[in-house]
Amino acid sequence: MATLYLIPFVLLLQTWTVCDAQNVKVEPFIYGYVGNQAILRCQFVDPDNSLQVTQITWMKNPTTSKVNLAVYNPDFGINYPTDTGGRIHFRKVTNTDATLIIDRLEMADDGIYSCEFATYPDGNQDATTNLTILAKPENSGKTILVQAGHAEVPVARCVSANGKPPATINWSGGSEGNVSETVTKNNNGTFTVTSEYLMIPTGDNNGEKLTCVVMQQALDRPETIPITLSVQYAPIVSIEGYDENWYLDREHASLTCSAKANPQTLNYKWLLNGKPLPSSIQVDGHQLTVRDVSYIVNGTFTCEVTNSLGTGRAKMDVVVREDPVDSGSTTGAIVGGIIAAIVILTVLVTAVLIFKRQRKNTDEEEDDLEPPNYKPPPPKKTLEGIDKVMKTEDEKMESIPITTTYFETGAEEDNGMTLTQYYDEPGLNTEVKSANIAVRPGDYLEQENPIYNDLSYNEPEEHRKSQEFVSKGMYV
Ligand SMILES: *[C@@H]1O[C@H](CO)[C@@H](O)[C@H](O)[C@H]1NC(C)=O
Ligand SMILES: *[C@@H]1O[C@H](CO)[C@@H](O)[C@H](O)[C@H]1NC(C)=O
Ligand SMILES: *[C@@H]1O[C@H](CO)[C@@H](O)[C@H](O)[C@H]1NC(C)=O
Ligand SMILES: *[C@@H]1O[C@H](CO)[C@@H](O)[C@H](O)[C@H]1NC(C)=O
Ligand SMILES: *[C@@H]1O[C@H](CO)[C@@H](O)[C@H](O)[C@H]1NC(C)=O
Repeated sequence: MATLYLIPFVLLLQTWTVCDAQNVKVEPFIYGYVGNQAILRCQFVDPDNSLQVTQITWMKNPTTSKVNLAVYNPDFGINYPTDTGGRIHFRKVTNTDATLIIDRLEMADDGIYSCEFATYPDGNQDATTNLTILAKPENSGKTILVQAGHAEVPVARCVSANGKPPATINWSGGSEGNVSETVTKNNNGTFTVTSEYLMIPTGDNNGEKLTCVVMQQALDRPETIPITLSVQYAPIVSIEGYDENWYLDREHASLTCSAKANPQTLNYKWLLNGKPLPSSIQVDGHQLTVRDVSYIVNGTFTCEVTNSLGTGRAKMDVVVREDPVDSGSTTGAIVGGIIAAIVILTVLVTAVLIFKRQRKNTDEEEDDLEPPNYKPPPPKKTLEGIDKVMKTEDEKMESIPITTTYFETGAEEDNGMTLTQYYDEPGLNTEVKSANIAVRPGDYLEQENPIYNDLSYNEPEEHRKSQEFVSKGMYV
């Protein structure tokens, strides 16, 4: 019979009307959260009233351990052969309704449940419900601090812990890399998925942004975790600012030492021809200045930069000339003339603009003195207010424990019937409703559900109310 449920539902209905082989109706799949309640519906449909029900039995794992959970006999009454601490009981058993309630769901409740009707004269008929317990994972990501090198190493790690089913973790952004994933099954049936992003790190990868995307049935939406790579590397050094025009008696010439490094704490050291600098040269960290150029500085300057990972160096050959590089050619003169003209024009235009603006400013200042036109700058408080609101919302989101949303919604007892988490009507219980929306694992079930409710279920009057609320009822 179980194979019947693999057939698309519409087909199943056709089969049913044609041969009417199956009188026992259940929901093939139900999803539930730890701590919530599950309702395993089971109905016996006998339009001709031709069958007599002699006994009803709910069994867990009918193909393996065969644990009898609940038995009903029209003559002898109800019995629960397995001790479940009162968590499992019939809702309101009759000869046609054997709906079973499981309270305070545990991970171990995951499994196949069969609802079996013993009938006369046809014999036994059963149908099975696959109850899947879901657990929302806790997701986190972090940067793994690495040093630039030649081997492939993990540079970032994302962990989706204690989820069921196991999460899928994808990576996006950043340079090309490889991903290594491990999935471990925890004792309570949940899974912890660890995904590492691997690459051969270079200094260029430092500060690169990656995102890990965690997808799982119990999450409302994929969770994205941004990660910024941190690659440590020894300084990469260059010397800038040499204009190839150092001539005797030049009053000011300078060189700049540039370095990229991680960590940034840098120590600069200048050398001339491999020796400490003559005292006539001024050094201010990465900046070197010569006040009076002479043949002393004709040679090779070296800048050495050190951080905790090592030292990087760069060299610059400086040639001291007797005279400045000749720029007095005709083209030079023309270029000089044009530049001079542009400068003069700019100065003139600027002067006019400044003059105009000053006049305007004076006017405005006068206006400002009149109270009705005075507009104060936007108050700073407003911005701080917004900041604060955004912050508190962030904090709120962070501080909502998963258990609040997902595990505490179903525990209220009401004559052994708890329907709160099934309410799908606006305004009845918004908190619970949001939990319901959050846990919808697949659309196909939604599509099946209305058909199921409308066509295959004819519950007795006293259950109508609850049935209305069960439109999304397969998720508990
Ligand atoms: C029950 O359903 C879940 C997913 O809906 C599936 O992973 C699992 O294999 C099913 N169990 C059996 C025994 O078919
Ligand atoms: C996630 O990665 C898997 C394979 O690594 C791929 O098949 C799947 O399409 C990806 N999903 C998304 C949403 O990117
Ligand atoms: C990914 O792994 C393959 C095979 O081990 C290797 O050839 C490749 O260089 C790796 N890619 C990166 C970006 O590390
Ligand atoms: C499963 O066990 C882990 C510890 O191994 C625990 O942190 C987690 O909360 C448990 N999850 C459930 C749903 O019981
Ligand atoms: C300056 O150095 C260059 C080589 O760097 C050399 O050819 C030249 O002779 C030197 N000039 C003087 C005056 O030392």
